[in-house]
Amino acid sequence: MPTATWRIAGANEDSAIVAMSLALYAHDPPPRGVSAAQVRSTLDAFRAEPVRGRAVVLDENGTIAGYAFLVSFWSNELGGEVCTIDELYVKPGSRRRGHSTALVRSLRHDRSLWPSRPVALELEVSPANQRARALYDRLGFRPRHNTTLRLLLQD
Ligand SMILES: CC(C)(COP(=O)(O)OP(=O)(O)OC[C@H]1O[C@@H](n2cnc3c(N)ncnc32)[C@H](O)[C@@H]1OP(=O)(O)O)[C@@H](O)C(=O)NCCC(=O)NCCS
Repeated sequence: MPTATWRIAGANEDSAIVAMSLALYAHDPPPRGVSAAQVRSTLDAFRAEPVRGRAVVLDENGTIAGYAFLVSFWSNELGGEVCTIDELYVKPGSRRRGHSTALVRSLRHDRSLWPSRPVALELEVSPANQRARALYDRLGFRPRHNTTLRLLLQD
């Protein structure tokens, strides 16, 4: 079994993250699609304003086997910072080894990936993604009582 760790992504890992993000969206396509340029712009935004969030990668013996985008949201209601796992992807050959479980455990219990202790972790999952839902349920994630509404301001 290879040793694996989640760590903060380096700037030289943008291309690997772009490829994995496109693979994630190919698996679960959003209505408007996601381009490589869009993923790069997310990585640029994190670097320009680190308070927004960060990319982390799953390093399996020097090979990048997954990534997640961690994004900050300050909740007045909860009285602190919510860390949103905005995207989470583990390459098919590395799944079911507990890597996503380890990521959530790390965000809960140590500060190696996220600088301060968040008051909550959040993520979105599509209703069709039953297996991911089962994993999140096992990890303790529950539906919020409010429904999220969105007004798109893009053309
Ligand atoms: C969902 C995902 C991130 C889980 O990562 P992981 O490191 O394999 O997760 P863990 O090993 O900690 O937990 C395994 C559990 O993940 C869930 N799972 C979800 N999709 C899965 C898949 N395609 N293959 C294997 N397990 C999957 C299952 O509940 C599995 O439990 P099981 O082994 O009892 O069936 C990973 O399967 C993945 O990247 N899937 C494609 C992208 C995706 O759906 N991302 C989540 C968007 S919200």
